[in-house]
Amino acid sequence: MTDTISPRAIGTPMPRLEGRAKVTGAAPYAFEQPVDNPTYLHPLQAAVVRGRVTSIDTSAAEALAGVLAVLTHKNAPKLARTNDAELAVLQSADVYFRGQFIGGVVAETSEIARHAAGLVRVEYDEQAHDTQMRADSDNVYEPDKVNPTFPADTDEGDVDAALASAAATVDQTYTTPMEHNNPMEPHTTVARWDNSAGDGETRLLLYDSTQGVHSVRTTLAPIFGLDPERVRVVAPHVGGAFGSKGRPHAHNVLAVLAAQLTSGRPVKLALTRQQMFCLAGHRTPTIQRVRLGSGPDGHLTAIAHDVVEHTSRIKEFAEQTAVMTRMMYAAPNRRTSHRLAALDVPVPSWMRAPGETPGSFGLEVAMDELAVDLDLDPIALRVRNDPETDPESGKPWSSRHLVECLRDGARRFGWEQRSRPAGGRRKGDWLVGFGVASATYPAYGGPGSAARIGYDDRGRYTVRIGAVDLGTGAWTVLTQIAADALDCPVEDVALEIGDTDLPKATVAGGSSGTTAWGSTIVAAARAFRDQHGDQPAPGAEVQAEMPAHPDKEKFAVHSFGAQFAEARVHVDTGEIRVPRMLGVFSVGRVINPRTARSQFIGGMTMGLSMALHERSVLDHQTGHVVNHDFAEYHIAAHADVGDVDAVWLDEEDPHANPMGSKGIGEIGIVGAAAAVANATYNATGVRIRDLPITPDKFLG
Ligand code: MOS
Repeated sequence: MTDTISPRAIGTPMPRLEGRAKVTGAAPYAFEQPVDNPTYLHPLQAAVVRGRVTSIDTSAAEALAGVLAVLTHKNAPKLARTNDAELAVLQSADVYFRGQFIGGVVAETSEIARHAAGLVRVEYDEQAHDTQMRADSDNVYEPDKVNPTFPADTDEGDVDAALASAAATVDQTYTTPMEHNNPMEPHTTVARWDNSAGDGETRLLLYDSTQGVHSVRTTLAPIFGLDPERVRVVAPHVGGAFGSKGRPHAHNVLAVLAAQLTSGRPVKLALTRQQMFCLAGHRTPTIQRVRLGSGPDGHLTAIAHDVVEHTSRIKEFAEQTAVMTRMMYAAPNRRTSHRLAALDVPVPSWMRAPGETPGSFGLEVAMDELAVDLDLDPIALRVRNDPETDPESGKPWSSRHLVECLRDGARRFGWEQRSRPAGGRRKGDWLVGFGVASATYPAYGGPGSAARIGYDDRGRYTVRIGAVDLGTGAWTVLTQIAADALDCPVEDVALEIGDTDLPKATVAGGSSGTTAWGSTIVAAARAFRDQHGDQPAPGAEVQAEMPAHPDKEKFAVHSFGAQFAEARVHVDTGEIRVPRMLGVFSVGRVINPRTARSQFIGGMTMGLSMALHERSVLDHQTGHVVNHDFAEYHIAAHADVGDVDAVWLDEEDPHANPMGSKGIGEIGIVGAAAAVANATYNATGVRIRDLPITPDKFLG
C-alpha cells in the first residue's frame, strides 16, 4: 500500500489558476511569445506521393523583396542524426508522402513568405505509390510490438475449438477511418539559433506547442549535434494536443534548419490547419475482426480480436488497438493480433487514448451483438464476464469498479426505459434507442521526472518541474497536490512549469501527467520536510526524483468507466441525434472535480464526434486527405452535442499513486463511440459496424 497524502486542497473544484490570463489574452501561446526581430517561415510541400525532386527553381522567390532565405534539400544544413526518417527533414531529394516538406521560405512577414512559396517551381520524378489499406495486401506484416511496448500478438487456450462448441457466437468485422487530432492551437514553433555568446557555443531556444519540453530537447539536441544543455524549450501554455504534440514532428526540425540561416533572428512557424492533416500525425484506420463465443448463460468462452491497420513506409507506428481486449473480460480462450500495412502515407501517431479508442468500438459493439443474440441485457452480459483478476497478467486489480459504474449509470440514465426489442420505441418521426459500453485505460506514469521545492523570503514554496499544461489543468492540480503534500494553503505555493530550465519531466501523454508529476512533487515535499522541517529557513531547497512504485508491479492498475448514450434516428432521413450521454467513471480520487469533469465530457464529446462525424478522406490517386479543413472534416459542434454528463465514484486507489488517483485524460473517449453505435442499433434494429455512422447507412 502506498502512503497516500491527506486531501485538503485535493478534491476541491479550484478554478484554473491561469484562467484569467487566458481569457484576457495575457497567457502566451508559442506563436505569441514576444521575440525581437522575428522572421516567418512558410513550408514548401511535395505535390507527389512518392518519388524524387529533380529540380527546384527558387529564383523568383529569392528575388522577392522581404525574402531572407529559401531552404531546400540543396542548401539545408546537414543534420547530425537522420535515423528517424520523419525528422530527417531536407536531407535528400526523396519524397515519401504527399505534403512532405521539400523546403521553406523565410521572410520578413508571413504574407511574403507564403507568397514567395507559391513562386517556387518544382519538378519531380514520380514513382508508383500505395496509400490504400487492405486486409489482404501482400505488404501486411506483423510488427515487433505495438505502442508503447506491448506484444503484437497474444494467444491463450484454443479459441477455434471454443468457438466451434460455443452456444452463441459473434464473428463480425468493424472498421474505423483515418482520423486527425485537430487541437485548437496549431503546431507552432518559434526557433532561435544563437551563436552570439562569444564562447563558440550554439544555443537553441524553442517556444514550442508541445506535450513535453524535455522530450523535445532530448529528441532534437542529437539531431542538431547539440549538447542538450544548450537547448532550451519553453511551453507555459498549450492549446490542446491529444497526442499530436507528444513528440516533435518535422515542422520543429524545419524551423530549426531555417533558424540557422537568419543570423540569430528568431523564426516563427505555425502550421496551417490544412498542413496539420499531413504533418502532425493521425490515427490509423482499422479493420477489426472480433469473434466472441459464449455458453447459453452468456459466460464468454472465447474472445478473439484481430486488427489490420496502417503505418508509414518510412517509420513504424503500431496502434495497440486490441490491447484493451486482453484485459477487459474473462474467458479461458483468448487471442489478439495486430498487422500493419506499410503505405506511402504520413506517419501515424498518438491520438487520444490510442488503442483503446478504436479497439473499444470493435469489442464493445461485438459485446452488444452477443447480448442481442442471447437475449440478455448488455449490462448483465458485461457484469457476468467481469474478471476477478487481470486475465492477461493474473495480477489482482488495484481497484476495478466497472460493475458499479454500469449499475450506477443504469439507474441515473433510466436504462429500464430502453426499447426491447430494438426498433420498438418511437417518438413522432424519430426512433429512440439506448446504448451502453465499457471503458478502460491503463495507469501509465513511471519514473523520469524530478521536482525542486524551495522556500523563499516571502513565505512561499516554489515548486519547479518541467511539466506541461495542455489546457487540461496541470497548473491547478499540481498546485493542489503540492499544497497538500507540503501541508500548506494553496496560496503559499508558487508553481513553475513548462520550461527545460526546470527539473526534467516526462511527457504529458497516456493520461500519465498527474500521476508522474504529482508523485514526484509529493516525493520532493516529503524530502523537503525531512530536511528542513515545518519551519524552514528562507532559501531552503530540495530536489527529488520520482521514486519507483512497487505496487505497480503487484497490481493491474487501470481506470474504468461505463458510457451511456441515447440516440434518435429519423425514420425518413436517417438523421441521427444524440440528445443524452452519461459517463460514470472509476478513476480513484479526483484531484479537481472542475477540471476532471472538463476532461471527461471533452473526451465523451470527442467520442460522439468519432461516432457520427470524423473521417479523413484519403484520396488514393493523389495521396492526400481531401477534406483537410474544418469545413469538410466535421468535428461535433454545439448543435451536434446534447446533454453530456459525467459523474464518478467516490473512491481512492491506494495502489495507484500517493494521491490515490488514476488517469482521467483519455478514458472519456473510450467506449463513447460504441455506446452511440449501440444506441442507434437499439433505436433502429440496424447494426452499423463502420464509423462514422452517417444517415445514408440507415437508408435503403
Ligand atoms: Mo495521449 S494520445 O497519449 O497524448
